[in-house]
Amino acid sequence: MKERIQQKFQILFGEEGNLYASAGRINLIGEHTDYNGGYVFPGAIDCGIMAAIKVNGTAKVKAFALDKDEFVEFGLNEEDKPEQSWARYIFGVCREMIKRGGKVEGFNTVFAGDVPLGAGLSSSAALESTYAFALNEIFGNGIDKFELARIGQMTEHNYCGVKCGIMDQFASLFGKEGSLIRLNCKTMEYKYFPFHPDGYRLVLIDSCVKHELASSAYNKRRASCENAAAAIRKNHPEVEFLSDAKRVWLDEVRTEIPEEDFLRAEYVIGEVQRVLDVCDALERGDYETVGEMMYQTHFGMSRLYEVSCEELDFLNKLARKMDVTGSRVMGGGFGGCTINLVKDELYDSFVNEAVGQFTLKFGHAPKIYNVVISDGARKL
Ligand code: GLA
Repeated sequence: MKERIQQKFQILFGEEGNLYASAGRINLIGEHTDYNGGYVFPGAIDCGIMAAIKVNGTAKVKAFALDKDEFVEFGLNEEDKPEQSWARYIFGVCREMIKRGGKVEGFNTVFAGDVPLGAGLSSSAALESTYAFALNEIFGNGIDKFELARIGQMTEHNYCGVKCGIMDQFASLFGKEGSLIRLNCKTMEYKYFPFHPDGYRLVLIDSCVKHELASSAYNKRRASCENAAAAIRKNHPEVEFLSDAKRVWLDEVRTEIPEEDFLRAEYVIGEVQRVLDVCDALERGDYETVGEMMYQTHFGMSRLYEVSCEELDFLNKLARKMDVTGSRVMGGGFGGCTINLVKDELYDSFVNEAVGQFTLKFGHAPKIYNVVISDGARKL
């Protein structure tokens, strides 16, 4: 990938660029908790986005997306927003950096990636983090990594229409080889947990489906949570985020909020606790409990939060039937992958069955990705 990027850069701009990269992510547990001020437990993975970048002495960004074979040129003012969705991520990062007082001037860039798109592995966060990290360094802005993550998150909010939390950008920037990171999304305190589950493997099964309107459904889930939190806050003013609420406090407002919002909140409050339970279990080497919590998360995401789909429920059910230790839908939902914790000796038969049965039922094969926990944003 490095060579392909530099070669194209050379052709387009007659020199070589500086190379930067950042990663996609997995999340072991803690889904839809980030924008509720709760815990998440992600890690960066060994696929991501790579970019060559060089200041060009103009007021324009000249960007080439190698995988799309598409060139776009845009200015750095608010009204210069490009049409192409991939270019909006880069534009958004520039704008958010400028809004924070950072310096960004024209540059040339070529980028490519190997994060599967639409699989829930955060290719967009990898793209944002690559440019946030690189531009910060190139223009000597000295912005810390937390704020770089916010720049990526606010790019999603203000330029891409997704009111996402901080997990993906955080994981992409803070990822460390061999470690998962437990992040408290309210205080931004985090802790690395070395993750080497001896005797087990972590495998993703990509349903290769992406359901329509995922971003508006995502924003709707977020609004439900905020609504529930606001109702609880009337009785308990200390509740800043939904994750601050006790389960019984939610019960107090059950008749005051739509049933749908109640179910969403019920899921979130349970999920925040599950992250803590999983971290405790990991420290004891108790993978059975880790796996059981993953199944509970799947149940909640499917029945209470309603972000699963037929294909993902099918894969989850099959995992349960085959005694796979843990399995659940991963990421925002509405398609994408399940993440599975599988005993070594069961790995081959599980993967074969999953591919075979899924293909038979849905008429296309799922994809299999073996997870390697890797470093996040870096200069190459
Ligand atoms: C998407 C968002 C994240 C997070 C997850 C669900 O990946 O970008 O902020 O909310 O969904 O956990």
